[in-house]
Amino acid sequence: MGVTGGIAAYKAAEICRRLVDAGAIVSPVMTTAARRFLGEATLSALASEPVRTKLWGSAEPIPHTLLGQRADLVVVAPATARILGVYAAGISSDLLSATLLATRAPVLMCPAMHTEMWENPAVADNVATLTRRGVRFVGPGVGRLAGGDLGAGRMAEPDEIVRAAARLLGASSCLEGLSAVVTAGGTREPIDPVRYVGNRSSGRQGYAIAAELAARGAAVRLITTVASTLEAPRGVDTVEVETALEMLAAVEAELGLGVGSAPGGTDLLVMTAAVADFRPARPAGEKMKKAQGIPALELVANPDILARVGAAFKRGGPGGSPTGPVLVGFAAETVRPGGPALVDLARGKLEAKGADLIVANDVSLPSVGFGHATNAVVIVDRAGRVAEVPLSSKEAVAAAVVDAAQALLAERGRLCGRPDRDFPRDFAPPRKKDN
Ligand code: C5P
Repeated sequence: MGVTGGIAAYKAAEICRRLVDAGAIVSPVMTTAARRFLGEATLSALASEPVRTKLWGSAEPIPHTLLGQRADLVVVAPATARILGVYAAGISSDLLSATLLATRAPVLMCPAMHTEMWENPAVADNVATLTRRGVRFVGPGVGRLAGGDLGAGRMAEPDEIVRAAARLLGASSCLEGLSAVVTAGGTREPIDPVRYVGNRSSGRQGYAIAAELAARGAAVRLITTVASTLEAPRGVDTVEVETALEMLAAVEAELGLGVGSAPGGTDLLVMTAAVADFRPARPAGEKMKKAQGIPALELVANPDILARVGAAFKRGGPGGSPTGPVLVGFAAETVRPGGPALVDLARGKLEAKGADLIVANDVSLPSVGFGHATNAVVIVDRAGRVAEVPLSSKEAVAAAVVDAAQALLAERGRLCGRPDRDFPRDFAPPRKKDN
């Protein structure tokens, strides 16, 4: 467990205690700055191993390789902008950064910093680089920061961090042997060879879900419209598509629903993509010229991919039998005051699509969904369970979505070994209307 120098270091004591309580052997490594916020003696008393602070001068000749090689997981809580930068750049400047470079274990970063720092493009780039390399993040959330400011950058709560750590330690192969298809990005519907009708989806939420599934051992096929702008997560196969029709064909081929396609063995379909509902009826074969006047764009409806798959597996309506893959849909809503609550809109979509889970977000809220690094969602299932994920990183939302899907896979007896322990506990009874 790495502890760096932020005010949230005081929470490291609680995280350490909980990890030890859960049976982990915790070797704390504190940076120089961390020791200004948290007493070495406090952490030593709570941890199962002595606190280490220095690369040099200890009894062990090479403490970083020792720690790095022995670890099953490295958790850095809090993680400052500095440690993210140093790690992203591959610099070994103290015991913690050296240990991070010397480990092959999964790494969980729990960033904590001021909003301005968290949103700084340099920090965002470092987070993106580390995420691409398979480093896991939990938080930060939005809340009160040092000095009384309110904003994004507050370290995730100890409970959330310990759960993420437990998942990485115990559940890293819990989806082993399962196959998942994830769609990501917004479709582009051509008007002519250079113009298209599109939407603001960045694809990041879908990529985060694909990464989470792969990290838990699933074989993942990512059907994406943004292959040229986002790097595929480690271990994920991509299929590049552009239009809704191409996406439909790719999904059906994967699921064995296409004409002449082989029977699919897909266990899970996550439709994160923002699929255009309409497309230009007759895209022009050549670039439209301004001189030809303003064209009237006639639109026709696109197929609803999720609803088609839902219907193919006969999920629609009460008593729909849970055969075929677990189907997860997304719902981007703009919730109006006095209108239906997000959770009710999500439930409606569950029925309309024949899906098993709907992940809904209110995209009219700041920092939520399309184009942002963060998201806030409610997840509903057909049994009436609801999980709410407050404003968090898209990686944290991905973990919650995969937890929920994993719970359904477990209920259907699809998980080979370990039963799911996490998500049912998280499911809360449906809340009262909250808008
Ligand atoms: O109906 P709405 O577009 O809000 O539904 C969103 C969900 O349905 C998403 O999971 C999206 O990927 C999926 N969808 C689809 N085909 C469409 C439109 C949406 O599969 N044509």
